[in-house]
This record gives sequence, structure tokens and C-alpha cells, in this order.
Amino acid sequence: MTKKWPLWISGKWREAKTYEPLYNPHTNEEIAQIGQAEPGDAVEAIVEANAAFQKFRSYPAHARAKILAKVATIMEERSEECAQLIAREAAKSIRNAREEMSRTIQTYRFAAEAAKSNFGEQIPMDASEGGENRFGFTIRTPIGVVTAITPFNFPFNLVAHKVGPAIAAGNSIVLKPAEQTPLSSLILAEMFQEAGLPEGVLNIIPGKGDVLSEALTTHPHVKKVTFTGSVEVGHIIQQQAGFRKLTLELGSNSPFIIDEGVDIDHIIERSVLGAFSYNGQVCISIQRIYVHQSIYTRFLERFVSRTKQLVMGSPFDEDTNITAVISKKSLERIQSWVDEAIKEGAHIECGGKAKGNVYTPTVLTNVNRNSKVFRFEIFGPVVCVFPFDTLDEAIKDANDSRYGLNSGIMTPSIDRAFYAANRLETGGVIINDIPTYRIDNMPYGGWKDSGVGREGIIYAMREMMEEKFISFKTN
Ligand code: SIN
Repeated sequence: MTKKWPLWISGKWREAKTYEPLYNPHTNEEIAQIGQAEPGDAVEAIVEANAAFQKFRSYPAHARAKILAKVATIMEERSEECAQLIAREAAKSIRNAREEMSRTIQTYRFAAEAAKSNFGEQIPMDASEGGENRFGFTIRTPIGVVTAITPFNFPFNLVAHKVGPAIAAGNSIVLKPAEQTPLSSLILAEMFQEAGLPEGVLNIIPGKGDVLSEALTTHPHVKKVTFTGSVEVGHIIQQQAGFRKLTLELGSNSPFIIDEGVDIDHIIERSVLGAFSYNGQVCISIQRIYVHQSIYTRFLERFVSRTKQLVMGSPFDEDTNITAVISKKSLERIQSWVDEAIKEGAHIECGGKAKGNVYTPTVLTNVNRNSKVFRFEIFGPVVCVFPFDTLDEAIKDANDSRYGLNSGIMTPSIDRAFYAANRLETGGVIINDIPTYRIDNMPYGGWKDSGVGREGIIYAMREMMEEKFISFKTN
């Protein structure tokens, strides 16, 4: 029997009524037994979080910062253990898992700094008649209970992007981690406890999204909901949450434009990384590459040849690039979308099939723009490559999407770079690099169906606080 992990509510482990086995996606072996929260547990966690918030709201910023910095230090000490955990429960290659851990540590450090620099604004009151002899300013105050629903693909860092700013802001939090990766969250309970976080400020309740989402989004104590996941679930959460503050990060099918005059040797490695890192299970993975006609053939040849060299295997082998996708269901969906694209006219340049639970990195050309591999987020190691003649045409194609998270453009021309940056309909435009580029203090979030709100510590923190205007009349 593997280890049982109960729920973490109000600083204590609480037995769940039922437990479910958690499997390693690579080996299919059972890793742990995970307590499954029920709606009543979610309500209890929210009530406890609200009680904890009544004290934590007046915890000084320096104390909140100290806890977050301590967590970062503890995490640094346990970083290899955490990376191994990610590799085991998410089948992320150990190299990618280590990268995620170093980012996560930095994310908590950013949160510690942000806790100490929470500024409001001064309002020029005398800009209006009747505003003379008054000072006006805003302060930002914590909002209360934040509920967070997180995905499997960055089980430490995307949790840090919600837990870090919530605590930095002085809120309490109820976290429902992804069903596939609860251990990376449950282990946080130990770290925050060691760091001295008061009981009830962080509560962790693994379970099924459809069972828990109503309680997590509609309970009167819940003041803010933050979710990363699919558009379909995002819509449900938005309807349930009503007027509550909401951050939704809902993925994308990111476009990457490679303009004329770009040195191909310089970009193959980054393009392959952007398309296939963690098997494409990244919201800003490159799904559509638009290459200027003048370099298209050479690019495609080099790109495909490098893709074929990617090493498929165990997440624990240091050389592995491509590992098992997160589930059999996901593998089957990817295969069916690729098969459908081929029926609709696509050519397979490489890949196009599963080997066990690993999907071979796949490059498609001649893709019909109505095919699912083009229209929707594939969240797998599949990329579509298209030639273009004019930059306007590439921009129009890149914008031909329901999504708009990050886009990327490589070009030797500053004018063309900014021309595109002005016109691309995405929350972030990455010039001279892949759209998959992200560091953890940059604003991150989408246009269109990619979501609402921004993450990136100080941006997330603002959305987890209420802004209050204060006017002071002098005599
Ligand atoms: C995501 O998949 O949304 C996160 C990507 C990243 O943090 O690099």
C-alpha cells in the first residue's frame, strides 16, 4: 500500500472520506493514495480560511515577506526532492523539472519582495474644481479568501503564481491542485508550516474539479477565484463565480512568426524547444509557425531533422526530451486530432503516432485551417508549419485564433518587429524569441479566450486586493 495523503485544512491533516490511487504516467505504477475532498470539505476549508484571514489581514508586510522568503529557502534545500516528485507524478523530464524548481524558488522570492512594495496612488485632487485643499490617495487592502484551481503542467510554479501573491497580499487561500499532480501541492503544506505560516491561511484540498468547483466559486466567503486550465472549464467557473474577482488563464495555440532575413542556424534549437518542451503541454507552447517563403524550405528541413533527434524516454534519464503525455485520454485525443488533420489534407513531416504512452514529436504542414490541430489548443507535441509571403499575411494568420496568450516574432528589422507587436492580438509579444519565453515577474495573461486578468506576482497581487480611495480635507 502506498502512502495516504489526507487533506490539509487549518494547519492539520484531515482524513478524507475516500482515497484514490495516483499513478505515475510513465510507468503506470501507483505512487500514492490521495484523499478526495468533497463539497463539505471545501466549505470547511473556506470557513477556516476566512477565520484565519481575520487575523492574517493585519499581519505586517515584513512578516508575510519573511514567511515567503523562508519557503523559498526551504524549497531550495528540498529542490532535488521536489524535482523528482514532478518527474514522478507529471512525467516531466528531470531537466525540465529542475528548471521548474529553480523558477518556483524565484517566484516565491518575487512574492516576498512584492509583499513589501504594495503601493497605492496619489490622486491630483486639485485637477478638478472642488478638489482644492484635499489630499487623495488609494490604498490596497487584502480581499479575503482566494480559491485557486491549478493545472498539472507546472505543478509547483503555477501553484506558486497563485499562493505566492495571495499570501503576499495578506489573503488566505484554498488550493485545489490538479487531479494528476496533487503531491507537489501537498508537500507545500510541510514547507509553509515550517516557515511559520499561521494555521488556516493555506488549505489544500485535492479532489475532482466538477465536484468541488461550485463550492470553491460560490461560497459567500470566497472573494476571488483564480484558475488555470481549459477554456471550457473557465467558462463554467466564470458563470459560477458571478461578480467575484476572477483570473482565468486558459491556454493558447501560440503563433511564432519567422521573418525574412532571419539566420536559421540561430533559431532551430529555440523553435524545437518552444514546440516540444514538456511534450508541448505548456500554455505558450508553439503550435503554429509561420515562416517567410524565402527561408521556408531550409527552415522546415532543419527543424524536422532536429525534431527527429529528440530523445524519447524515461523522465528520470538526464538525456530525455520527450516523455509520456499526462494521460491515456490525452494521448488518444492528440492522436485523433492528428488523424483528423491528415484526413483534412495535412502532411506529416515527422512523428504522427504514439509509442507506448509517449507521443512522437510531430511536425505537420499543409494543415487545413479548420482542423482541430490548428483551431484548438492541442497540449501535446504537435506543431503546424506554414509559409507566408507578406508580414501582414502572417500577422492576420497568427491572429486567426480564438486564443491570444503569447506570440513571438523573429525578425532582423526593428520596424517590422514593432509593426507586428502593435498588431498581434496577444497578451504578450516576444520579439526575437519564441512565444514560450516566460520569466516569473513579467505580466502574463491572455486576450480573447485565453482568459482574463494577469499573473506575474505584482500583477496577480493587484487582482487579489481591493483598492480603496481615501480623501483628506485640510482646513
Ligand atoms: C503555462 O503553461 O501557462 C505556464 C508556462 C510557463 O510558466 O512557462
